[in-house]
Amino acid sequence: MKFVIKNYGCQMNVNTAEQIARQLTVAGHQQVTNDALADVIIFNTCCVRNTAEQKILSHIALAKQLKQKKPNLRIAVIGCLSAKRKIKGVDILLGTDDAKQVVEKLGVPTQPLPPVTSETAYIDITYGCENFCSYCIVPFVRGKLRIRPYAEISAEFDQVKDHAQHIYLLGQNVNAYPNFPQLLADLAGRDGNFTLHFLSSHPKDFDEATIKVIAAYPKIARDIHLPLQSGCDKILRLMNRKYTVAEYMAKIACLRSYIPDVHITTDIICGFPGETAADFATTVATVQKIKFNAAYIFPYSNRSGTVADKLDDQVPFQERKVRATKLVEIMRKMS
Ligand code: 5AD
Ligand code: SF4
Repeated sequence: MKFVIKNYGCQMNVNTAEQIARQLTVAGHQQVTNDALADVIIFNTCCVRNTAEQKILSHIALAKQLKQKKPNLRIAVIGCLSAKRKIKGVDILLGTDDAKQVVEKLGVPTQPLPPVTSETAYIDITYGCENFCSYCIVPFVRGKLRIRPYAEISAEFDQVKDHAQHIYLLGQNVNAYPNFPQLLADLAGRDGNFTLHFLSSHPKDFDEATIKVIAAYPKIARDIHLPLQSGCDKILRLMNRKYTVAEYMAKIACLRSYIPDVHITTDIICGFPGETAADFATTVATVQKIKFNAAYIFPYSNRSGTVADKLDDQVPFQERKVRATKLVEIMRKMS
């Protein structure tokens, strides 16, 4: 059978999509990029923001049109969006991030895979999240925090470390791994010609012990993604982020003192409920002080079921966009 995988969302999804493709390929099926040639189209979805959701739904609608001309075409929708909502007229709807389950649902038996030989390798270390940031849908669609057994992580690492130049440890919050600094030091201390990365970190759990390990091991990338989300304490509290701007800035200062050449990126949400023009100005001032190397800036997106969705003082959609555009412009001028 010929299959197309359309992937959306975070690095964890990239990893799942790769695993599905490898399983299907090993079983003799062929990955193609042209929908018209496919027997099955797999949508590996994201629902973190409404824009992602709408884009995916429109792509699924196109696949459904194709299916009218080609009734044997199967449409599979997997991942976060299918965990969140029903989608009509598709053959498989599976709200999972487990590649094995997806492959088996397609009627293909799974098997142990040969080692990855690609330049970039991804290794899951935690699944799910239970931080419940008030804007975020992830805890609802990815479930409770689960820690992957050390033996599995360690074995997978040894399989990829001689081939991969870049190895990414993945989790919604990697710092939730018990004794993360020790895991980092353990893996980064192994021989091989790799650079070790990790995604994503939560500032409340990103600590000096982790920073010391990064500083001590040259094989750990000097790129740190530390989502700030807002530069205003009032909004951080409403977001349930569990740190203050001052605490966040202290961590940045600590990072820069141990690792002067560190490259720091962040995520910022603009127009969160209750964010006044003055609160936004506070965020702008914070971002200007910190001098990030790059920032990913998003207008706040209501996700039903979350606490933030029910807050009073929702900022008008247009204003959220105006603030996001303003901040993008400020970042552009700074860099
Ligand atoms: N609205 C806007 N941005 C969001 N993010 C997560 N949930 C939302 C939401 N409801 C952003 C955060 C997170 C990134 C992956 O997506 O900044 O760090
Ligand atoms: Fe999107 Fe979050 Fe799911 Fe990743 S975990 S695909 S970012 S909703």
